[in-house]
Amino acid sequence: MKQFISVEDVKNINALVEKAFSYKADPFKDKKLGTNKRIGCLFLNPSMRTRLSTQIAAQNLGMEAIVFNLGNEGWALEFEEEAIMSGNTVEHVKDAAPILGKYFDVLAIRTFPSLKNKEDDYSELYIKQFIKYAGIPVMSLESATLHPLQSLTDIITIKEALQTSGKKQETRNKKPKIVLTWAPHVKPLPQCVANSFSQWINAWDEADFVITHPEDYELDEQFTKGATITHNQDEALKDADYVYVKNWSTYNDYGKIYCNDPEWMMTNKKLSLTNNAKVMHCLPVRRNVELSDEILDGPNSLVTMEASNRVWAAQAVLSEILNG
Ligand code: CP
Repeated sequence: MKQFISVEDVKNINALVEKAFSYKADPFKDKKLGTNKRIGCLFLNPSMRTRLSTQIAAQNLGMEAIVFNLGNEGWALEFEEEAIMSGNTVEHVKDAAPILGKYFDVLAIRTFPSLKNKEDDYSELYIKQFIKYAGIPVMSLESATLHPLQSLTDIITIKEALQTSGKKQETRNKKPKIVLTWAPHVKPLPQCVANSFSQWINAWDEADFVITHPEDYELDEQFTKGATITHNQDEALKDADYVYVKNWSTYNDYGKIYCNDPEWMMTNKKLSLTNNAKVMHCLPVRRNVELSDEILDGPNSLVTMEASNRVWAAQAVLSEILNG
């Protein structure tokens, strides 16, 4: 693997998931793979799970991981080509990235969207400029529009839950029904996790995939095409095996909150419509806004298992990059 910025960089999703399971069973089996190699983890935004799981994954492979909070500790970077840098930016990415390419063997980057300019955000300028100028493999720790490590983790978690579920064989022989549901939130959030989850579940092609959201919250069709989309959440939840809860701001009239109807929050009452579904969320989660306490603290929640699987997803991807 030369880079990891979307599902398009993955030849075989199930093989990558199996690799993650093999690391979960034996975390240090490839301890020599990363000896004398270094990963630079650059953060332009806050993170807990992505930051720590990537560091642990690198260390499990024998790599040294160095974290740099570029957003608040580094020089303000310019990303536009031919910019006249008379404003607030101090250093151009075409000067900084080749230096990072000399310091590290792999570069991992987290950026967020502005949620102000759709064209800019969806051009993925920041991560693409690092790929262009660093000269080493680049791995996304979440970009302006996608969160591929999270989505790989989500498929790992679904497969693990399927393997360990007590559901009857006839249910398990059918494709699982996976529902991505929009949830309320107090702030306009990126579409990254929802875009990426849709892109991966569609590419995986092993689920009956339904997306439900209020009117005006349509996501970019390039990621959702192939899924059933409905504004009727109760209808969508019927017989669901997995419910993935996530807020996102509007895509068409970009970065807005149109609806914050608390009726869209997942509760045990809504869970009763499902096939005793397992409930997922990438975290952090606003309790009793996106998801109720009763679900998060109840037996159907997979959120802790999901977050712990971030390590194995990152380790599988790093291993592919090191072998690539
Ligand atoms: N899910 C996720 O990416 O968590 P962090 O923002 O804490 O990294």
